[in-house]
Amino acid sequence: MVIHTSEFVISNTQISKCPEPNRPEFAFIGRSNVGKSSLINMLVGRKEMARTSSKPGKTQTINHYIINQSWYLVDLPGYGYAGVSRTDREGWGKMIENYFRKRENLFCTFILIDSRLTPQKKDLEFIQWMGELNLPIAILFTKTDKPKQGELIKSQKKFKEKLLETWEEMPPFFITSAEKKVGRDEVLRFIEDAIETGQ
Ligand code: GTP
Ligand code: MG
Repeated sequence: MVIHTSEFVISNTQISKCPEPNRPEFAFIGRSNVGKSSLINMLVGRKEMARTSSKPGKTQTINHYIINQSWYLVDLPGYGYAGVSRTDREGWGKMIENYFRKRENLFCTFILIDSRLTPQKKDLEFIQWMGELNLPIAILFTKTDKPKQGELIKSQKKFKEKLLETWEEMPPFFITSAEKKVGRDEVLRFIEDAIETGQ
């Protein structure tokens, strides 16, 4: 897919204020600082469309962008950031839960996983929860410019083994690096296919 246009639409904390669910939607989620906003910028080919930060907890709201005037891309706030209060975490939980339970035009959610880490409980729990809701997911391994090739292969293998303890088959899986622009074509092709086949 060629990205012709990408525009910010709205940022909010309420599902009722999200744009009309009249176009296919793709969401990006993962632990704070995993690289969601950076990856989104890499995919759309813009430096600072989504705000990024070296400090975790930058994205706090549901952010809609419209791509090629035909589909929505959503940058969501990260989970598992210890720096926010319990009340904020509960607020996050409610907002996200509402979003995933109610957003009827959601085609697929990309769950971002830091390729440098061993399988994290928070990620596995989130993936499990999406499975229980019966929502389609794809996994994006992030920051793969960081680990050495051998380490990357090992961490991938570990993650897949862990996931397959509870999942019958691996969801779609992509290796990415916002830094080195790895995975762009593959992820955009996946989105294009999903839109074409209507799922
Ligand atoms: P929150 O909005 O806080 O949940 O974070 P986020 O997941 O949106 O992460 P963000 O894109 O803001 O990036 C967090 C940090 O990771 C920044 O310092 C980025 O420069 C860095 N980063 C993101 N992607 C990559 C990557 O592909 N490679 C490397 N080496 N660093 C990256
Ligand atoms: Mg962010």
